[in-house]
Amino acid sequence: MNRAEAARRVRELTELINQANQRYYQHDDPIMSDPEYDRLMRELEGLEEKYPDLRASDSPTQRVGAPPVSGLARVTRELPMLSLANVFSEEELLEFDRRVKKLLGGDGEVEYAAEPKLDGLAVDLIYENGVFALGSTRGDGVTGEDITPNLRTIRSLPLRLRSGVDAVPERLNVRGEVLLAKKDFVLLNREREETGEPVFANPRNAAAGSLRLLDSRITAKRPLSIYLYEIPHEVPGVLTHADSLTYMASLGLPVLPESVVCMGALEVQRRHGELLRLREEFPFELDGMVVKVNRKNLQAELGQVSRSPRWAIAYKFPAQEEETVVEDIISSVGRTGALTPVAVLRPVQVGGVTVSRATLHNQDEIDRKDVRPGDTVLIRRAGDVIPEIVKVLPEQRKPGSAPWRLPDRCPVCGSPTLREEGDAAIRCTGGVSCPAQLAEGLRHFVSKDAMDVEGMGDKLIAQLVEKGLVRTPADIFRLDFEQLRGLDRMADKSASNLVAALDKSRRNTLARFIYGLGVRHVGEHMAKVLARAFGSIEAIQSATLEQLLSVHEVGPEVAASIRAWFDDPNHQRMIQELFAAGVTLDAPRAAADRPLSGKTVVLTGTMTAMGRNEAKQKLEELGAHVAASVSKKTTFVVAGEDAGGKLDKARELGVRVMNEQEFLAMIREMEG
Ligand code: IVH
Repeated sequence: MNRAEAARRVRELTELINQANQRYYQHDDPIMSDPEYDRLMRELEGLEEKYPDLRASDSPTQRVGAPPVSGLARVTRELPMLSLANVFSEEELLEFDRRVKKLLGGDGEVEYAAEPKLDGLAVDLIYENGVFALGSTRGDGVTGEDITPNLRTIRSLPLRLRSGVDAVPERLNVRGEVLLAKKDFVLLNREREETGEPVFANPRNAAAGSLRLLDSRITAKRPLSIYLYEIPHEVPGVLTHADSLTYMASLGLPVLPESVVCMGALEVQRRHGELLRLREEFPFELDGMVVKVNRKNLQAELGQVSRSPRWAIAYKFPAQEEETVVEDIISSVGRTGALTPVAVLRPVQVGGVTVSRATLHNQDEIDRKDVRPGDTVLIRRAGDVIPEIVKVLPEQRKPGSAPWRLPDRCPVCGSPTLREEGDAAIRCTGGVSCPAQLAEGLRHFVSKDAMDVEGMGDKLIAQLVEKGLVRTPADIFRLDFEQLRGLDRMADKSASNLVAALDKSRRNTLARFIYGLGVRHVGEHMAKVLARAFGSIEAIQSATLEQLLSVHEVGPEVAASIRAWFDDPNHQRMIQELFAAGVTLDAPRAAADRPLSGKTVVLTGTMTAMGRNEAKQKLEELGAHVAASVSKKTTFVVAGEDAGGKLDKARELGVRVMNEQEFLAMIREMEG
């Protein structure tokens, strides 16, 4: 191949790879296989190696990162990056709207663009003749840092613009946010934990840290994303903010699809509620909504005060991170005897919920974070995860504090505690003679997804254990009306209800029974798998390791745990006693004759007649797999009230949707 031929092939490859990147990273819709992509990349690298002058700054090979630089250069901008004033309530939003109307001198409703406020790192990009030329951090607004090589590694950022509605402009300045997805943040931190590197406090810090690295080869390994939301200068034909998003998208730049145009403040308020509900399942962290006057001429008329535009505000969501004080650290004893350290916190509002406790998981976690009673800590609640302590604020540590250790004796029964080789937990060695382990075990046994004894709450169990009326699960089924009536706060009516609930629970399904036993590594799903595979408790009890391992989904750890549990004579006796106390178990229907076998169902929105868990359970009993997200493989979606993104996705993919009424009717029919 001569130079001219090579040049042609380089152009061809660049085009192909860019197209592949865009479809893969911006549209989740790949046009080629991974090996094919790698092959094209290698071919391009080879040609560039041979003809270094053909290696353009916008070549896709340049995304892998460049050798480290000694420092980040400063970049001074002509158009400063502004910041936004915050509002926190509907009232303040209405005030903003009134001010805008007043300044514009009209009283008709104002058109606003409302879009997610992405919680990442703001960047400023310059494209010259369609080629990505310069990228910088916000800095103080006027002067930022040159992070061009790092930005080049972001796969969804086009290194060369497509010509859009018009030809590619000579010079284009766009701004947006660089982000790390929530799930990638968790993965990155897990990896850093394993290699002993300090973890990032949140996705934002992780994105910022990744972007400001001097070695962009490391940046290239972080799955960063970017979304653009602003063009700070005029563009012919772009009359509104919405137009600017459409324009950027037409050039191949990634823009957020969730931007909507609202007529007046009330529609903006409604959209705020919608976005807030979307927040949990949104792949990136959102810290609010940005509200912008849509028309560019009105934006110009409104102008700015100091460093903030008068035409836009940030309507913030409740914060997900707060500071508070660790008042105490206690250890709670679980069903398996594991001592879990729990931080008792000075109550604080986080993301709209009061938080007063945070789990510290185990001793290693305490050592790593070095949390001590009296410390001021940063706590965080993201999505539906349990609140956690991000870090201690060491500047505020009281003098004289000492590292905290889990106790040598069980705080409940006083038995020695023990940490076995390879176990992260320190456990109470008291077994079921420890009231805490017994109570936790019983609580699990009677819980809704296990034997489901209605009306047997934590307080009642605690009383039964304390009075010595219940020492094993079988004792529960031997309780009679007289015994129950004799308990504190137990009226005749509740006692007879409980007797009826026990009768009902005695006859149960094999899967619920297995789950209720509390075998380590056997959760609800695994219990169902075992019930289906073996059909009876006896079959599981006598199954060899090999037989257990031959069941799909059962791995060595699970199999060993099951074997060890059933080999324990105490457990064998416990099962015999349960059967002697009248427990009878129904084996599951064979897989093939269940009406929804092989079907995948997604539940979304609020169900009114039956809870979501109950609906899920029913579907699984009918053989369906209940999935969390909608895809082409989804058989149908059940949409309750206020269904959102998943419903849209189903419509988009043409997946069948039924409402709650239709769903109930279907179940009734199938259950016959
Ligand atoms: S527009 C003059 N739109 O929020 C308008 N900003 O507090 C400037 N941000 O520095 C910004 N999402 O880092 C805009 N959809 C969005 C945004 C957004 C996040 C950030 C951006 C900005 C900060 C202002």
